[in-house]
Amino acid sequence: MSSQSIGSAYLDHAATTPMRPEAIAAMTEELARIGNPSSLHAAGRRARRVVEESREQLAEVFGARPSEVVFTSGGTEADNLAVKGLYWARQDGLRRRVLTTSVEHHAVRWLEDTQDAEAIWLGVDADGGVRPEALRTAISRNADQVAVVSVMWANNEVGTVQPVAELAAVAHEYGIPFHTDAVQAAAQLPVDFAASGADTLAVSAHKLGGPVGVGALILARGVEPVPVLHGGGQERDVRSGTLDTPAIRAFAVAAAMCARNQAEEAARMAMLRDDLVRQVLAAVPDAVLNGPSPGPGRLPGNAHFSFPGCEGDALLMLLDANGIACSTGSACTAGVAEPSHVLLAMGADDSRARGSLRFSLGHTSTQHDVDALAAVIGEAVDRARRAAAR
Ligand SMILES: Cc1ncc(COP(=O)(O)O)c(C=O)c1O
Repeated sequence: MSSQSIGSAYLDHAATTPMRPEAIAAMTEELARIGNPSSLHAAGRRARRVVEESREQLAEVFGARPSEVVFTSGGTEADNLAVKGLYWARQDGLRRRVLTTSVEHHAVRWLEDTQDAEAIWLGVDADGGVRPEALRTAISRNADQVAVVSVMWANNEVGTVQPVAELAAVAHEYGIPFHTDAVQAAAQLPVDFAASGADTLAVSAHKLGGPVGVGALILARGVEPVPVLHGGGQERDVRSGTLDTPAIRAFAVAAAMCARNQAEEAARMAMLRDDLVRQVLAAVPDAVLNGPSPGPGRLPGNAHFSFPGCEGDALLMLLDANGIACSTGSACTAGVAEPSHVLLAMGADDSRARGSLRFSLGHTSTQHDVDALAAVIGEAVDRARRAAAR
């Protein structure tokens, strides 16, 4: 197989995407400076200026007011603050339920383990889509018991884009706050907080070319989740902890670059992704493309397949040995051999869910990456099938 290989390819941008050189430069410059943005002296005030300029830049990118941007340590913390914080803020003994979907990221699946709240898991269609009518029916059955609704903007495994504005409008008909996890969407689609109607929205820097370990919860004015972290109350009193000025600056630089040529990049990625799908299906004719058909309902950089008769983990390692980096699903659960909850929710059986791989493209992806995968996928699948049959 290696003799056919035409080189390595990073096809796991949904797990994390390379930092943009401009973001690295901005962060490096800032790392060499001193100043806690909460300090009152000149160095602190300088750091504060950097934070506030970055906040303004991010607000512009995401269609929010600067005061609505609350910095966090990433998407996980932003989701936790929104879902737990809004749930706790609305406790009056009656509203014990959180209405969410069966395809959410693990960052909002705290509900599986808690004794505190009770989850209502909204089902999805075979493409992973959530229908506004299904949300309306689920809410109307439990209207006075639901504290918060949470539906992700775009799915991290199969790339399904949800009708967020319609879903938020349904939640608001019943006076229920609506959270959306836009961590994947923000890297590839225009994300406009105000137009979405959401009350809270999570974003993460490392999915769009910024550093790992910084993100934001966009929090509409007047929406007040109970804090998850307690301390100095640096961010609107809902989030504590010294702000990471270098990371915040790099986050803003990366997000602004992403927004600047979003449409061209999305079109370029969609073309590459369509070619990847074509080439994989040509090499493995019985592979199944999971998720929505390529088009506006799917993230442009996402391709996700089931390879019948294969174990996804084994196939991933065979591809890795040929320099191809991809994922069996969400990076946060990789290494744990359990079938994807997303595919199971979409109606896949256990073996199809286990025999799946995600290939995700990003700002550094090229035709070479697609061709490198195409050169080795056929033989890797043959080998994985032989291994599974043993
Ligand atoms: C949809 C989604 N939400 C949340 C997260 C977590 O973000 P972070 O890595 O910044 O904590 C991820 C990361 O994989 C994600 O894909």
